[in-house]
Amino acid sequence: MADPWAGAKAAAARHAVATRVRPGLKIALGTGSTAACAVRAIAERFPGEPFDCVSSSLATEELARSLGLAVRELGADDRFDLMLDGADEVSPALDLTKGGGGALFREKFLARLSRETVILVDPSKLVKALGERAPIPVEVVPFARPVLVRELRGLDYEVRLRLNPGGQPFRTDNGNELLDLSPKRPLPDPKATDRDLHALPGVVETGLFPGLASRVVIGENDGRVAERLPSGGARA
Ligand code: A5P
Repeated sequence: MADPWAGAKAAAARHAVATRVRPGLKIALGTGSTAACAVRAIAERFPGEPFDCVSSSLATEELARSLGLAVRELGADDRFDLMLDGADEVSPALDLTKGGGGALFREKFLARLSRETVILVDPSKLVKALGERAPIPVEVVPFARPVLVRELRGLDYEVRLRLNPGGQPFRTDNGNELLDLSPKRPLPDPKATDRDLHALPGVVETGLFPGLASRVVIGENDGRVAERLPSGGARA
């Protein structure tokens, strides 16, 4: 099925690349259909430019390489000038839910190493509170999964094990499994929820990204773009 937000995603990506990317940057690449637009926009705008890139997934790495962008492994002292990524939900405070594509651990790891994390979305991702539109993915160690499912249900989440198209448990690039949590009501305090989920042994990472976005770029299908900054600042 054609993506109804393809134009909006491409507009956000082109804008972010035109305004935030310049030669010589160390760039962390996100994952998903919007992050893929950003990779394409970088390759189109800067053909042959030797950016220093690390990817949050094998899928993005393959796409980047196919477009002539070199991608290398993460190094011990890496810090990035810029991370470009998508999101499944963006709250008014610019907290995020991510991990619809399953790459949440590496995305969060790279975002923490990035001076600026620019999130590209279409308007369907804007919510009043996280948990309203998308489940919260939690990456778990497969051995611990049965216990975690019981514990998370006890905490009043609906819990679904993510499956791949063959009906087997989806495996992340790190070899772990994903539990998609639906809260009974949207989250009043994503940071506290993230902390509580991390307290459960066997949880590797959550798809809650409180306070990690430096800037959110919202594209529209007609090509218009708006930006939001964490302080509440906005630019058309
Ligand atoms: C990947 O794991 C995710 O965090 C994506 O960034 C998120 O699911 C948004 O994906 P789309 O850009 O495909 O909507």
